[in-house]
Amino acid sequence: MSASSANGQAAEGWPLAHHRGALVPKGQATLPMGSIALRYGVSVFEGIRLYRKASGGVTPWLLAPHLDRLRNSCRLMGLDDLCCDDVPAIIDELVAAQAIDADGYVRVAVSAANVGGIDEEAEAALTVTIAPSGRKRWLARGEGIRLGVSSWQRPSDAVFPNEAKNISAYAGPRIALTEAKRAGFDSCVLRTAEGLISEAPTATVFLVEGATVVTPRLGDHVLPGVTRAWVLATARALGYDAVADAVTEDRLAAADEVVLCGTGLEFGPVRSVAGMELSGWPVCPVTTALVDTYFDQVRGLAPPTPVDWALTSGRVR
Ligand SMILES: Cc1ncc(COP(=O)(O)O)c(C=O)c1O
Repeated sequence: MSASSANGQAAEGWPLAHHRGALVPKGQATLPMGSIALRYGVSVFEGIRLYRKASGGVTPWLLAPHLDRLRNSCRLMGLDDLCCDDVPAIIDELVAAQAIDADGYVRVAVSAANVGGIDEEAEAALTVTIAPSGRKRWLARGEGIRLGVSSWQRPSDAVFPNEAKNISAYAGPRIALTEAKRAGFDSCVLRTAEGLISEAPTATVFLVEGATVVTPRLGDHVLPGVTRAWVLATARALGYDAVADAVTEDRLAAADEVVLCGTGLEFGPVRSVAGMELSGWPVCPVTTALVDTYFDQVRGLAPPTPVDWALTSGRVR
């Protein structure tokens, strides 16, 4: 049972949003149909995990790098990033107002809320919500993801900046995921224009080859993931080699272990790639070591891994 479902709060949900400067019921956190956000898809966001500490109380996990990436997304999309400074206090306010004491998922959005044409200046509006969120079934029930390899591509940076965590970037991957599920997979990875493996619709992909942990390079059209940077640093701290490298479909399918990771998913161990069972499944010792370390850190039972956060805001290619 997940920490949040063990707590009565999860079933109730948390009803409030902080929207455009005020606490309102979530259903009232809306934008006009004519807004630049809804007409042209200009709305950047972050998902941030709120974890209950072993010693009590909840804390946002890795808040600073998420806010740095949000500011970078704002700049790339022409949105004023000043409102990002208010986010820590707003999260505290939402936690206090709803007496939140369980694991949750904070969604912070900066949207072009004004009605306008494609060439008009955007007015940034901040919306913050928190939803109950425990473990997904992969960690909760030890199930493995049946991963498809999609023929859909993520855009190159010449088409859309992959550093910008903007809603429009999810429309294509959503199609890929829908197709993969229809074909009997649980999730999928998309490709680069060159046919290399890029990432899943909402998660980074890692593979384990012996004592080496590998993930696609930032140039392989991936979002510069916060969990990606944490995994690279933590794998090294645990004594593994950890590298960003070109990953082909054959390389992925031949790996000892494959795991998807990201803020919402946390970790999703993969059992098969394109229908082929992985040799390491279901033992996955490297994935297990990373997951155990992660939960020790998020619960405050171990100090957080020191991480080079330049990896998450486009300053390192
Ligand atoms: C497209 C995409 N890639 C990767 C990730 C993982 O990133 P992070 O670890 O920063 O949550 C996400 C999660 O939001 C995502 O949406």
